[in-house]
This record gives sequence, structure tokens and C-alpha cells, in this order.
Amino acid sequence: MEKKTIRDIDVKGKKVLVRCDFNVPLKDGEVADDTRIQAALPTIKYLIENGAKVVLCSHLGRPKGEVNEKYSLNPVAAKLSEELGTEVKLAQDVTGTSAHQMADSLKEGQAGLLENVRFDPREEKNDDSLSLELAQLIGEDGIYVNDAFGTAHRAHSSTEGVTHHVKTSVAGLLMEKEIQELGAVLESPEKPFVAILGGAKVSDKIGVIENLLEKVDQILIGGAMANTFLKAKGYDIGSSVYEADKLDVAKELMEKAVDKGVELVLPVDGKVAKIPAGEELTTEKIESAEQKNVKLYKEEDVKEGKAESLEGWQILDVGDTTLNHYADGIQFANTIVWNGPLGFSEVPSFAHGTESIARYIASSKSKCVIGGGDSVAAIKRIKKSAKENGEDLKKFDNIYLSTGGGASLEFLEGKELPGIKALNNAENVKSSSQGSKLTEHEISEN
Ligand code: 3PG
Repeated sequence: MEKKTIRDIDVKGKKVLVRCDFNVPLKDGEVADDTRIQAALPTIKYLIENGAKVVLCSHLGRPKGEVNEKYSLNPVAAKLSEELGTEVKLAQDVTGTSAHQMADSLKEGQAGLLENVRFDPREEKNDDSLSLELAQLIGEDGIYVNDAFGTAHRAHSSTEGVTHHVKTSVAGLLMEKEIQELGAVLESPEKPFVAILGGAKVSDKIGVIENLLEKVDQILIGGAMANTFLKAKGYDIGSSVYEADKLDVAKELMEKAVDKGVELVLPVDGKVAKIPAGEELTTEKIESAEQKNVKLYKEEDVKEGKAESLEGWQILDVGDTTLNHYADGIQFANTIVWNGPLGFSEVPSFAHGTESIARYIASSKSKCVIGGGDSVAAIKRIKKSAKENGEDLKKFDNIYLSTGGGASLEFLEGKELPGIKALNNAENVKSSSQGSKLTEHEISEN
């Protein structure tokens, strides 16, 4: 997995095509959350300082191969210009006349940005003609850098195909850091190792659970995916969302966990909202629904009249007893991986589980790697309020917030991501020291 990085090559005077993940949220035509831009800056600054001619590219949203102003990278170019203190010009196309003019006009130490690569229908098809056109932008001795960890699970022209037309393809500093941080928890986790998995679907997490069962001591399961496990165990989940076609998979995973001596911790209580089965869960509907805290019971107990049925109610968050069990797990862990919300966290009254986990993690001293939008956002909120209270932010140094959602999941599944696989392998580097050459100050805080 050891890959060459920008530090292993000479970039002076060369045109360097850098694939970033600038897939950032926008609001009123401006970047609403610049985390991914900040995370890309160390690579961009390194290349500028070392005299490269930097051609940046990225996707933004899912414009489905059509030019759509809504997904223009214009706000990103403006933010980059502000951060770098010099204008980052935006080309009007991906590989057309404007892109060539921009790339050819760059002087050493200057950066420009191509328009959204997904405006070209060939990008997501990994069409070789686009891959070649991207490579032609930087010419014969051009260099390709992939720093888009968040998109490394996609085999697209700008993440994979282009490497077949470029002699030198290396990792950027963010890519290196992500591989190093996520790789370390898979390869050499300090035990006890606890995984916290939430989110809507078991089907999204089967691969991760299977891979982590080989490595962890405990898996704490929450979110709507816990409903499928509970149903498979014969629990009454009332009208809650679950995956009927994944009940057997859930059973198999629970059996495997027993075989491997891994404790799989499921909710024993929850917070429910009175919403009939099959209704679309919207924020408004949940907020206005009747809500209560309940203990979870087996279906047979309900049938025998020993417990009240949850018919007509949906479990939308974990309860306090469950959180106490989770807290015990987190407390004894030396390594933690967290991906996915524990409840319907968009609605404040059902965000308690997710917020509590974030708090437990924030006060834990163990090595934590966190991926996925909601989990990362929960930690960021805690970090922000700690900053506002004047607390020392060093206490968060043990927490790594990945810039990858789907990519971090696939990495934790043990899959080789196409955007990483395509890069040149490093020479003469010890295989056990992925990315160990990175110094702290070179990667900005998440
Ligand atoms: C992400 O936000 O997870 C990445 O930018 C990938 O985006 P995609 O899921 O649209 O490919």
C-alpha cells in the first residue's frame, strides 16, 4: 500500500494535475463548510512553494454529466484565492480551450482550477478519451497527484483513468495522511479495539462489519441498521424501518461475532416517535409526532402480554441504558473507529445518542478514527464549543476526522481503493511505515 508522494519527486517547473475532493456544501453561492478545502491546502501550498504549475481539479455534487451552474466550482475558486492570498483562476471547461489556456498560462508557483469534472459525461464512466485529455493538459513530463481521498473509491477518469496516460502519479499529503491514519487502525490497532457503527442500512456496512470482526473486541451498533439486527434476534421493533431482505445476513454476522469472540452490542432501549410504518421520515413529521422513551422487548413477550407493543411507533434513537453500555465499551477501548449516526440526528430530539457518543469519544484518550458526515459533524460541534469555552484543543489530538465518507468505509472494509491503487508505488520504503514521513504541521487540523 506504500505509495510515492509529492515529497518523493521533483515538481519544479512541471505542470502538476492535482485531483482534490472539493465536494463541499454550498450556501447562497458560497462555501458553507471549508473542511475539505483546508485539508487540501498543505498539498497545494507544498506544490506552489516548490515551483510547480498547479492545475487543480475536482467534482462537486452529482450534475450527471451536464453543465449546471449550481454545481460550478466558482465558489471553491474564490475560497482558494482567499486562502492562498492570490487569484486561483477557474477555467470555464474541463479539458477544452479554456482549460488549456488556463494550464498554459500558469507560471511556476501559480495554481488554477478546472471546472467541475462531472460536467463531462465521460468522467464517471472512466472514459479513456477524457483520461487522455486530462493528461494532455499537463503535457509529456506532467505529474498527476491524487489528494482526493474522499473520492478514491471511485474509478473515474480524474481519479484513476488519467494515471494510465501519465508517467508519474503520486499521492498528495492529505491522501498520505488518510492512508496512514486509517491504515494504522486496521494494521496495528492497540487493543481493546471498539467499532461504533450507525446509519440507516446494514447493507452499507456488511463489508465493514465482516472485516472488523477479524480485528475488534466489540462492535456497538446503533441507528436504523440496529433495527434489522434486533428484528433478526426476535425483538419487537414496532413500525420501525428495517431491511427485511437482510435479516439472514444480520443473523450470520451475529453468529460470526460469537465464533470470533467479538461482542456485538445492540440497543436495549430507545426513543420512539408515533409514526406508522412506511411513512416517509421527514424532519417536520418527526418533530410533530408524539415521542417517548421505551425499553425494548422480545416479540414473544409482547404476544404473551408481558410488554406493550411498539406497533405504530418507530425507534429513532438509542436510549440511556444503551448509551451506558456504549460508554463502558468506549471507556475500556484503546482504539475506536466510528462511522454513522446512532439515531435520526437531523432532528435535535433524536440526536442524543449521536451527540453522547461524540462526547464520550471527546473525553476518551484512545486513538479514534471517525468517518461519515454526521459523526464528523458531531465531533466538530463539540470541538467548536470547547474552543469557544477557551479549552485546550490538544485534548482532541487523539481524534482523526477523515475527509472520506464512502471512501473511509470502503477502506475499513479492507478494499483497495482504485484511486490509491493506481498511484506509483514507493521505492525503498519500509512496508510497515505507511506515510510515516509526514510531519504534524503539514496537515491542518480537521
Ligand atoms: C463524498 O462526498 O463522499 C465524495 O466527494 C464522493 O462523492 P460521490 O459519492 O458523489 O462520488
